[in-house]
Amino acid sequence: MVRHLITIDDLTEGEIQAIFRVADEFLKDLADPQVPHRVRGAKSEAQGCILATLFYEASTRTRFSFESAMYRLGGQILSSADPKTTSAAKGETIADTVRVLQNYADVLVIRHPCEGAVRVAADYADVPIINAGDGGHEHPTQTLCDLYTLQREKGTLKDLNVLLWGDLRNGRTVHSLVYGLARFGARIIPMPAEGFGLPEHVVRRLAQDYGCTPLSNDEVSRVRGDKFPVDAVYVTPEKPHQRSLFSDVPEKGSEVLKVRLPANALAKIDACYVTRLQRERLPEGEVGADSYPVIDAAFLKDRRYRSSSVMHPLPRVEELGYDLDNDERAVYFKQAAYGVPVRMALIAALLRIRPDLLGQGPPAKKHQVYTQGTLGCENTRCVTGLSSEQRYLEPRFLIIPESDRLLARCVYCEHDMIPEFVGRLSTRKFEPNRRAFTDIPEDLLLFADEEAALRRGCSPVRQKAGG
Ligand code: NCD
Repeated sequence: MVRHLITIDDLTEGEIQAIFRVADEFLKDLADPQVPHRVRGAKSEAQGCILATLFYEASTRTRFSFESAMYRLGGQILSSADPKTTSAAKGETIADTVRVLQNYADVLVIRHPCEGAVRVAADYADVPIINAGDGGHEHPTQTLCDLYTLQREKGTLKDLNVLLWGDLRNGRTVHSLVYGLARFGARIIPMPAEGFGLPEHVVRRLAQDYGCTPLSNDEVSRVRGDKFPVDAVYVTPEKPHQRSLFSDVPEKGSEVLKVRLPANALAKIDACYVTRLQRERLPEGEVGADSYPVIDAAFLKDRRYRSSSVMHPLPRVEELGYDLDNDERAVYFKQAAYGVPVRMALIAALLRIRPDLLGQGPPAKKHQVYTQGTLGCENTRCVTGLSSEQRYLEPRFLIIPESDRLLARCVYCEHDMIPEFVGRLSTRKFEPNRRAFTDIPEDLLLFADEEAALRRGCSPVRQKAGG
């Protein structure tokens, strides 16, 4: 079965570690003697294979490192960095573009400004599709590079304290990274610019899918020590995989709240992950934060940061001081260099050049899919909002049960919405979405509002007198 990498959840923890082991091997075999984190020369494992890069948004690192990785594996590349030169400019759909390109290349790497666009591509492809960033949604291969860098620097991912700085609202690298950190048991400490915190749906999913929840205020004050201005620390239970997306453990459990950190748990910060303001994703009229955090040598003087790795997906603008470049804690250029061996390993895995790295199918999702067409995604940046794609694309949602309602998560952009009403096709009745479901009925209907329910021919459940 063809495997794709669209979100970081498309790989299991075991598969991620297997990819890292192969990246280590490539790095060892091809290391530049002067600069050991850089690969030079080439293998011949991908001889005869072609990788195509199709980028509808600006890129330096991601595209070049993929292309370099393919050359260093002994393969060839086809490259389109300018959307104006492809048929998308003539109105061709994503589905048609990939169905054509898969005849010309063995693996496609796609970057697109719309959230969920690369999932659409994967749904129509019979060759592996790799998401190189889809709007503000996810950037899973950057996360592979980030986790790989952290693991090489710190020897482990478990129990690390990772500070996330900057634009956590729009940064797609951050969105993939928090899920990765949670799954490997690292602690996440968000330090956003004001108004740029993690989106609600990301925080909700951290809790629902990975049992990763914020510590209580009391617990944070107990462990944070003096002058450390954090008000949230997200922690995972002892065995995050037991509560993962792929298991049947009930949602929020009491053991999560029992996570107790040692009193000095935040005395040492293992990594600061800095991100730029994602200016291109601000709604028209919004100019950014009044003050955007800047990480520089003066900031890192605090003892807490003595051995912090300073990371950045790059490009940097003003949020990361140049005075850190020669500081041994700065690993952002190494992080960019690791992009080549990590992407070599990923390509080898997806092309099955290394046949045993990935399982046959992707990790199964535990939630039911909803395809009744009564809901549209409310995220204005979702691919389902593109008129070109509306010609063929059906909205699809995962149904996420909560204790007092059902959520609908768009399978493309993964934003959640709360339908106002739920109904049944068999009874043609609907009621407010305000109760728990132990089993989701096969004929469930979800409605954004009353009008949508009436339009579908449903009538309201009559309220019991006095009830
Ligand atoms: C990031 C991206 O494109 O999301 N860059 C990258 O791929 N390394 C981060 C950014 O642009 O800020």
